[in-house]
Amino acid sequence: MRLIFKFLLLLITVSSITGCERPPIETVQTGFRGTGMEQIYNPRTLIKQASLNQAPVALDAASEEGPKAKQVYQNVQVLGDLSVSQFTRHMLSITQWVAPEAGCAYCHNLENLADDSKYTKVVARRMIQMTQRVNQDWKSHVAETGVTCYTCHRGNNIPANVWFEPKDRKYANSVMGNPADQNIATQTVGLTSLPIDPYTPFLKDDASIRLNGNQAMAGVGANANRVSLKQADYTYSLMVHMSESLGVNCTYCHNTRNFQSWEESRPQRVTAWHGIRMARDLNNDYIIPLTEKFPASRLGPKGDVAKVNCTTCHQGAYKPLYGAPMAKDHPELQALVKP
Ligand code: HEC
Ligand code: HEC
Ligand code: HEC
Ligand code: HEC
Repeated sequence: MRLIFKFLLLLITVSSITGCERPPIETVQTGFRGTGMEQIYNPRTLIKQASLNQAPVALDAASEEGPKAKQVYQNVQVLGDLSVSQFTRHMLSITQWVAPEAGCAYCHNLENLADDSKYTKVVARRMIQMTQRVNQDWKSHVAETGVTCYTCHRGNNIPANVWFEPKDRKYANSVMGNPADQNIATQTVGLTSLPIDPYTPFLKDDASIRLNGNQAMAGVGANANRVSLKQADYTYSLMVHMSESLGVNCTYCHNTRNFQSWEESRPQRVTAWHGIRMARDLNNDYIIPLTEKFPASRLGPKGDVAKVNCTTCHQGAYKPLYGAPMAKDHPELQALVKP
């Protein structure tokens, strides 16, 4: 009896340490036979994921007849060329996407809808332009699928996945030195000991991601060969983030016999390359300049605003909402209107 108990205990320990998942596990081949380019899925996780990634039904299209919003309202700076009924449909849609509980009052002073006193309205106006920018100028990433506010917000005031710069963890005057944000094991880096902030260098700044330098010696400036173990750690952090946010393995993009070769990579890697540049653009040109509009309670430990990474849109799916083309029902979000 004691022996059986010990054996069971051993079994439980071994299976929890090795992190085994209960079968069945499904494998989908994504590259040439023999290259190991396969995706491994657990159907139970997929079912759960699918239910979290349903696009809401669009409101009926509105007529473009009748007076324009800019003729009727007092303070319409971006969507003025919509008809009043298209404009109203847009307001109803963004309420459903961003503030279903608080309703119009989340952004508006209900006594005077033209008033800009709520920061949420000022932010929302810029967010409209940001969404238009993605759909118009980042087709290299979002194709015709496009995005709406819902892609990121999913009915939440603040998107569920955003990032801040982590607080400094330098141990000043200590033999421990600078831990470079390592050994903290967050979800971002798949619970590994890799640096927890790949976002600041790669999705805000444009530090080089490639590890293979084209120069033997260190060099200076843009051509500097930054290759070092530490640099590699940051690149791997970003790669783990990208894999986790899409719910895929490294082989979704790479042939692991040669990570750097574009010829041997899947086309999805090119899409991802554009995605990295798009995230930088959204953070630097749209979100960071809004920092001073936000109340302190919305800012991170270093006073920075919540920013976008791959998970903000993808949320565990290889395409956000599994590719549901919800943007096509919202022509007002297709082309950038400059105020
Ligand atoms: C997420 C923020 C947000 C929500 C929620 C929202 N609005 Fe708006 N609303 C805006 C923004 C931003 C503008 C200005 C658009 C522009 O400049 O093109 C605006 C402008 C308006 C205007 C024009 C007012 C004027 O005279 O300038 C009306 C009317 C309006 N909204 C009605 C509504 C109604 C009704 C609801 C609820 C069903 C609603 N809004 C919900 C952000 C919001
Ligand atoms: C690419 C992702 C993305 C898209 C698309 C997007 N947003 Fe946002 N939104 C963000 C991020 C990131 C923040 C900052 C979170 C915070 O408030 O701290 C934010 C904040 C906001 C806020 C302020 C919320 C608060 O309570 O502080 C409003 C309002 C808002 N967005 C409205 C919109 C509207 C309306 C649209 C569509 C026209 C939209 N957003 C599209 C990412 C997005
Ligand atoms: C969604 C696609 C995608 C996934 C998944 C992905 N990568 Fe990458 N990887 C890229 C892209 C794009 C680049 C090049 C980025 C650039 O140059 O801006 C890259 C670059 C790299 C490099 C640098 C290659 C060089 O030229 O020096 C390494 C190493 C790497 N990835 C490893 C990994 C590992 C390990 C994983 C899994 C944990 C992974 N990648 C998952 C898209 C991906
Ligand atoms: C603004 C929202 C948004 C952000 C942020 C975003 N993506 Fe995407 N991504 C999309 C949309 C929408 C598609 C679907 C495009 C299509 O239908 O071909 C997509 C498609 C992709 C695909 C192609 C998948 C396939 O199988 O064809 C890859 C790979 C990808 N994204 C990687 C990334 C990576 C890596 C990041 C972060 C650096 C990122 N994305 C950030 C919206 C986003």
